[in-house]
Amino acid sequence: MTLITPAGGDALPEQGALRQTLVPMTSLDNPREHWNARFAGDDYYFGTEPNRFLREHAALLPKKGRVLAVADGEGRNGVWLAEQGLDVLSIDFSPVALAKARALARERGVKLETAEADLAKWRWPRSAFTAVAAIFIQFAGPALRDRTFAGMKKALKPGGILLLQGYRPKQLEYKTGGPPIAENLYTEGLLRAAFADLEILELASHDDAIHEGRGHDGISALIDLVARKPAAPAVTRRAE
Ligand SMILES: C[S@@+](CC[C@H](N)C(=O)[O-])C[C@H]1O[C@@H](n2cnc3c(N)ncnc32)[C@H](O)[C@@H]1O
Repeated sequence: MTLITPAGGDALPEQGALRQTLVPMTSLDNPREHWNARFAGDDYYFGTEPNRFLREHAALLPKKGRVLAVADGEGRNGVWLAEQGLDVLSIDFSPVALAKARALARERGVKLETAEADLAKWRWPRSAFTAVAAIFIQFAGPALRDRTFAGMKKALKPGGILLLQGYRPKQLEYKTGGPPIAENLYTEGLLRAAFADLEILELASHDDAIHEGRGHDGISALIDLVARKPAAPAVTRRAE
């Protein structure tokens, strides 16, 4: 069955606007199968090297501890995080992707815990991770994005670091990756408001060429966020 997507699209098939541009209609109603099909080849759709933004922020990562790789796909980022000595939980709703993530971890000789999780339903744990990596998770429209961002904040331990990279609306002109859906893309204002309760260490918009497998290839309108969850307030004891 042929699925035709606009050039470079990571599109979530159930998005209404996209329905007119994707065929056949039957594939549109099951995003999980759409992603499974995308990951079905022997190659790694987004490559096996970590995302550059993530790698360049290695110094901000904790030396040890549990880290969550959100919608980690075929595991290029989760495996790299494990190579940094971290205990990584790699979650995604595609079992095909997760099997390839485990294979990549075996090949690289690191331990990677995986869990099949649909972010529309996943019960986010509280204060469980010293870092959360969310790299290109723009399958999420506004409602799922709100849920996901709230979940990521809840899941960080106080003092934990969030590393997030995505596309800006200008990416709709470049068409080198990401969903062709304006409302899924990030602006600085959107991220600043969404993470106002975190300490924003870096928020940067930039256009750069990225080459991440077949999925993300070419000049791209990127946005990076590095934020820290505030440390828990000190408990003060009232004098008896
Ligand atoms: C653009 S890919 C990015 C993968 C990975 N973060 C990377 O940078 O290589 C988006 C990923 O989101 C996953 N995904 C899409 N919708 C999801 C959902 N509702 N719950 C969990 N994962 C989802 C897809 O299976 C895919 O692996």
